[in-house]
Amino acid sequence: LNQGHGVKGLADMGIKSLPRQYIHPQEERFNTISDDGGEDRSIPIIDMSNDDDHAMETLICNAAEKWGFFQLINHGVPLKVLEDVKAATYRFFELSAQEKSMYLKENSPSSCVRYGTSFVPEAEMALEWKDYPSLFFVSDEETLSRWPLACRAEALEYMKSSENVIRNLVKILMKGLNIHDIDEKKESLLMGTKRINLNYYPKCPNPELTVGVGRHSDVSTLTVLLQDDVGGLYVRGLDAGAESWIHVPPIKGALVINIGDALQILSNGKYKSVEHRVTANGRNNRVSIPIFVNPRPNDIIAPLQEMMDGGEKPKYREVLYSDYVKYFFKKAHDGKATIEFAK
Ligand code: SIN
Ligand code: FE2
Repeated sequence: LNQGHGVKGLADMGIKSLPRQYIHPQEERFNTISDDGGEDRSIPIIDMSNDDDHAMETLICNAAEKWGFFQLINHGVPLKVLEDVKAATYRFFELSAQEKSMYLKENSPSSCVRYGTSFVPEAEMALEWKDYPSLFFVSDEETLSRWPLACRAEALEYMKSSENVIRNLVKILMKGLNIHDIDEKKESLLMGTKRINLNYYPKCPNPELTVGVGRHSDVSTLTVLLQDDVGGLYVRGLDAGAESWIHVPPIKGALVINIGDALQILSNGKYKSVEHRVTANGRNNRVSIPIFVNPRPNDIIAPLQEMMDGGEKPKYREVLYSDYVKYFFKKAHDGKATIEFAK
């Protein structure tokens, strides 16, 4: 497997059937007809230009508790910035395999850029049909100058333009926990670092046998996701009973927001970090661009003291955030299993 070529390399070669290392066991494959159930349910769509701030804040906090996912419209990030970062993603993937392989883990001069395929290929029984560079933002010029030129300016602009909405969301979500003062320590825990992935899911032969991304929850505080108009992201329904998966329909200009494990832990389980997965598809290439808003690696994450003031018991232990992340990246995607590490 030449990882410099990734799955895009396989797709570009015109392979007609899926190589066996991408074939997932039956129970992990995605049968849209039975899983989607034709049910008329969808995650909340929240308009941030709503004049009634209190109503909008209530919708956000309720969505974080009941769904762990919502879509934002009129969030203030210009459409052009979103279009530009999608175009930049395509530009990165049009680089030659040799140019891209400079950013592979084993070749990359800097830990702030990682290009790879699948999730953790060395730990996976079956590979995922996805390639992506991962760009860490560490706020210093040197770091930034390492991001690939093909997408650097656009990725940075996307990150900067979304700072307002991210800060606003964090404030609203804390208010929902009755926390009104975000001091330096909380600021670090809630939004100390950021990382952007440029996900590329090429058109797949035999999409029914594999996955774009397997079931997982994010390890972030929260994730801001831009998806294109192809679709394929499914979210686990939290209602009791049968396993249900809800499609997240593409909406032009919208951002999909989800709560990650770090915020589930900090909020002592009030806000939910919900499982999601992505199908492979045989019709179109798809791109998606998440910004992961994370604690700092050296932060200790545990339920916030304010959550316990009313006598509630902590549901999670103290964990060094970098250990939590290391644990996540040591194994294949496995649903909500990572959070057991904090119990
Ligand atoms: C992910 O959650 O890992 C990717 C989401 C997406 O591509 O829509
Ligand atoms: Fe995710």
